[in-house]
Amino acid sequence: MSENNQWGSRLGFILATVGSAVGLGNIWRFSYVAYENGGGAFLIPYLVALLTTGIPLLILEFGFGTKMRGSTVLAYKKLSSKWEWIGWWPVISVFILLTYYIVIVSWSLKYIFYAFNQAWGSNPEGFFYGTNLKLTSGIESLGGVNLTVLISVVALWAINYFIVYNGIEKGIEKASKIFMPLLAFLMLIITIRGITLPGAVAGINKFLNPDFSQLLNSKVWLAAYGQIFFTLSVCFGVMITYASYLPKDSDVVNNSFITALANCAFSFIVGIGVFGILGYMATHSGVPLEEVVTQSIGLAFIAFPKAINMLPAFNTLFGVLFFSALVIAGISSSISMVEAVVKPLNDKFGWSRKKAATVVAVLGVLGSLIFTTGAGLYFLDIIDYFNMQFGIVTIGILQCIAIGWIYKSTKLREFFNPVSNFQIGSWWDFTIKYLTPLVLGIMLILSFISEIKDGYGDYPITGLRIGWLVALAALALAIILSSVKWRKEE
Ligand code: PHE
Ligand code: NA
Repeated sequence: MSENNQWGSRLGFILATVGSAVGLGNIWRFSYVAYENGGGAFLIPYLVALLTTGIPLLILEFGFGTKMRGSTVLAYKKLSSKWEWIGWWPVISVFILLTYYIVIVSWSLKYIFYAFNQAWGSNPEGFFYGTNLKLTSGIESLGGVNLTVLISVVALWAINYFIVYNGIEKGIEKASKIFMPLLAFLMLIITIRGITLPGAVAGINKFLNPDFSQLLNSKVWLAAYGQIFFTLSVCFGVMITYASYLPKDSDVVNNSFITALANCAFSFIVGIGVFGILGYMATHSGVPLEEVVTQSIGLAFIAFPKAINMLPAFNTLFGVLFFSALVIAGISSSISMVEAVVKPLNDKFGWSRKKAATVVAVLGVLGSLIFTTGAGLYFLDIIDYFNMQFGIVTIGILQCIAIGWIYKSTKLREFFNPVSNFQIGSWWDFTIKYLTPLVLGIMLILSFISEIKDGYGDYPITGLRIGWLVALAALALAIILSSVKWRKEE
């Protein structure tokens, strides 16, 4: 039987799940997705996605994990050995995500050092793509591995390895108890700085003023649903795994709401800070807000350095704090992904935590390699799109079918309601059985149509083939792994 690893306290569990949820998604991804989708126009679809999909799925994952007490793979196998592959699919997908997530954290790590002397000078954009990424002209030319990125990627894998290797209570929980208060403190400073700058109000208005005309734009809705999965860490096997280390009588409902609300409050506060800073930049340099940022994907790495240059005082300190916040948020999320991959290997093959973590870290460094090349950003963009928009959305639908119809959502609800402070009504069954899969199904179809009609980005067809290939390989690998024999039948 697998080792008996448990959270030391409920607070430790909450800090770890909030640590998983709050990550690059809340700072780097949220601000650029919100920006790309018109700021205020984005908030309504975001909240709808949170209520119709995010929170119901989080309740599902916390409930299922607490009940089944095992990794995603073991949980689905206990449901039926026919369904084990549904457990492996998120594990493979989260591993793929992890290989490039760590690379983005590695840029943040490098930027802490760049911030000391504002190494980006007066051209943060050229610096980001040039000196930092050594970006090639297109996906066809790899351009070799970027050494500074590789070194920080290896360092980050080592940190992840060390934390996960030490186990749940002594590794992940302990790290979360340091990281999370620190992160909250850093973000507060950054946001206060943001909103007290002259001109901040103009930026914050853009963030908060809803633009109802955008509600008819399906792209905004797709972006909102994608962001909710990413930001809450649902459909990646992470929350099922974390919840499996809880006592069986844990308050599933409260845990779900605390995690979801803490995560969204964090995004919201950061959003105000970030848009405040953009407002300041617009006022300070006399350009319209829409033109302050030209490259939204580089918002954290281009617009922020620009803003840091313009600050009236404490530029260096502010830069160091901002990129440190990114690194801390990133590591507390990446350890949850590593755990979600390590635990199934331990469950299924009986590997020790040490062996499983070593294998995952070595494969992880190898997997990250492609993203450290000069074409890394292109690969990252394509693979993220296919992994999220097709893989994760399909996994969401499968989870709803498996729990809603096969396990029966009512049964799961009857398991966690008696030990929860607040009771969940039958609206949840309706959501899991009908509403969420329906919405996700529509999303999937819309993505398919847009992909077939317009492709994705300006990439050549080879680039898109790579995207499909990775997405399909993830599914194939999940099926293969689920058909391998268990070391010992339970
Ligand atoms: N939720 C994390 C973030 O917002 C990312 C993440 C995704 C973590 C999937 C774990 C699993 O950055
Ligand atoms: Na998040």
